[in-house]
Amino acid sequence: MNPLCEVLLVIWLLFWIPITAVVRTVSLWLGLVKYKNVDGEVVVITGAGSGIGRLMALEFAKRNAIVALWDINEKENNLVAEEITRNGFKAHAYYCDCSKREDIYRVAKRVTDEVGEVTFLVNNAGIATGKNILDCPDNLIQKTIDINTMAHIWTLKAFLPGMVKRNHGHVVTIASGAGLFGVNRLLDYSASKFAAVGIDESLRIELTVEGKTGVKTTCVCPFYISTGMFEGVQTRFPRLLPIVTPEYAVSRITEAVLTDEPLLVMPRLVYLMYMLKGILPAQLTLAIGQRFGVTQSMDHFVQTRPKQE
Ligand SMILES: NC(=O)c1ccc[n+]([C@@H]2O[C@H](COP(=O)([O-])OP(=O)(O)OC[C@H]3O[C@@H](n4cnc5c(N)ncnc54)[C@H](O)[C@@H]3O)[C@@H](O)[C@H]2O)c1
Repeated sequence: MNPLCEVLLVIWLLFWIPITAVVRTVSLWLGLVKYKNVDGEVVVITGAGSGIGRLMALEFAKRNAIVALWDINEKENNLVAEEITRNGFKAHAYYCDCSKREDIYRVAKRVTDEVGEVTFLVNNAGIATGKNILDCPDNLIQKTIDINTMAHIWTLKAFLPGMVKRNHGHVVTIASGAGLFGVNRLLDYSASKFAAVGIDESLRIELTVEGKTGVKTTCVCPFYISTGMFEGVQTRFPRLLPIVTPEYAVSRITEAVLTDEPLLVMPRLVYLMYMLKGILPAQLTLAIGQRFGVTQSMDHFVQTRPKQE
């Protein structure tokens, strides 16, 4: 393409893409955007035994998807599967330790053999140590990276080939606001979530370049959600930067996934902070973080999740 045409194309995209984004948002508010049908889709959800993983499992199952639930907490995971089947929908529970590559490959094969080709992958399992870098034992840092990052890569290696072959599927990455901004006492967590955001973005580009646009991706970056994972965290301005409920978070995630939205950041103010981060000097971004209390948010954190061996 000649250089002038390329410049004109970029200028056109600069206007066209924001316009379509605004039209889409307004259409969503007015209820004019149709959710895609997941009837009969096989959905793997990691970390489905509690929190937003559990609620996403209920939501997908309610829409007649067949859900394969993975968790290290067998008891809770089985309870979620029982709740779904009791309501007349389809669920299968699997013990899987997502910090172990061999476990992921073994369980992925079992799901494909026993349930069918996986078309939706929701990488949700996650842990947080909540310690300053120098107080955090090496093995816990490794665990955080293994579960929050490496598991995303191993599950992709297991399930993406089937999706690419049929040019059909959806990969959902549950990352975090800490994958867009560094946070104190969350160094390892933040590193793992920045990586998850990078995995999602690179995957989307790879699929586009390869022409596999039938495989969609959604990356989810929430601030805090009141699931108990971040018990005791605080927000200085709850109206502007609320700690959202798991139900609200999952309603927004469902909307984003079922309308093929590539990136969901919540609450909305975080979009603005993310944009400002790109243009403001680093010292100013830090000062804004301090004014909003983000840098102190972990001061009263209490670990409520079981220690991982
Ligand atoms: N709660 C928040 O404030 C918040 C904010 C941003 C992002 N997130 C992300 O959302 C996701 C879900 O968080 P949540 O709040 O529902 O937490 P949660 O602790 O309620 O759920 C996490 C689930 O993952 C499972 N899990 C942990 N280690 C595992 C392993 N090795 N193998 C398999 N499963 C394992 C747990 O048993 C649990 O059922 C996480 O990735 C988290 O980082 C949470």
